[in-house]
Amino acid sequence: MQHLGKVYLIGAGPGDPGLMTLKGKTLLESADVVVYDALISPPILAMINADAEQINAGKRRGRHSLQQSEITQLLIEKAQTAAVVVRLKGGDPFVFGRGGEEMEDLIAAGISVEVVPGITSGIAAPAYAGIPLTHRAHSSSVTFVTGHESVGKYRPAVNWQAIAHSSETIVVYMGIHNLPHIIDQLLLAGLSIETPIALVRWGTRPEQEELIGTLQTIQAQMEAAKFEAPAIAVIGAVVQMHEVLAGCRPSV
Ligand SMILES: C[S@@+](CC[C@H](N)C(=O)[O-])C[C@H]1O[C@@H](n2cnc3c(N)ncnc32)[C@H](O)[C@@H]1O
Repeated sequence: MQHLGKVYLIGAGPGDPGLMTLKGKTLLESADVVVYDALISPPILAMINADAEQINAGKRRGRHSLQQSEITQLLIEKAQTAAVVVRLKGGDPFVFGRGGEEMEDLIAAGISVEVVPGITSGIAAPAYAGIPLTHRAHSSSVTFVTGHESVGKYRPAVNWQAIAHSSETIVVYMGIHNLPHIIDQLLLAGLSIETPIALVRWGTRPEQEELIGTLQTIQAQMEAAKFEAPAIAVIGAVVQMHEVLAGCRPSV
């Protein structure tokens, strides 16, 4: 079948509308259809062309998310009738965003598709909390890893021991619920209980919250603060820079 449209897989960044790319914004302004995920911030949704059909893939009948196969099918259908179809995802589409899988399925269905990268929350949330991921005095390596291992979305088991030994900064996505297990694994691997850790929730948004502690203290701090997802965890000596840099953080 001849397809009229093209699907643009766009990264919306972590929330601050100023972090949306110019390319992504221009496409949102000219989109015919936008299929967006649950964590997209309201100011970014406000950039969408008012005449565009807007579909929230994070909600169905008020409660449930669309299944991945339903989203792909929807994008294929829309590309058959509309010229500019945007698939809008939080952060970067190719970083724990299933963008690779969606693009693969669209290509297999004969749909034209293009990616527009976004700023990933694993970089932006620490930056807005005054934490550089590398620093000449503290870290020359970074690992981005998922803390959400239960449903086989990515690799079934992260090798925390290997990560603890191979990287000076560890950035964990989706790790809040699994944090006790992750900390146990890192301590087993030989990290000190004094290793600094930061949790940044709703990074780059007005409601950004941070907790700064150590592998020993952070769980009690989380309980006391009733700290919840979505958040990024940063583990390593770079977290100490928060004290020096956080005073000059970007306004959110
Ligand atoms: C399914 S992953 C999507 C990641 C996204 N593709 C990216 O590049 O940022 C969702 C996780 O990203 C993290 N996340 C997304 N937006 C965030 C934000 N504004 N602040 C802190 N963490 C965020 C949280 O760990 C959340 O559980």
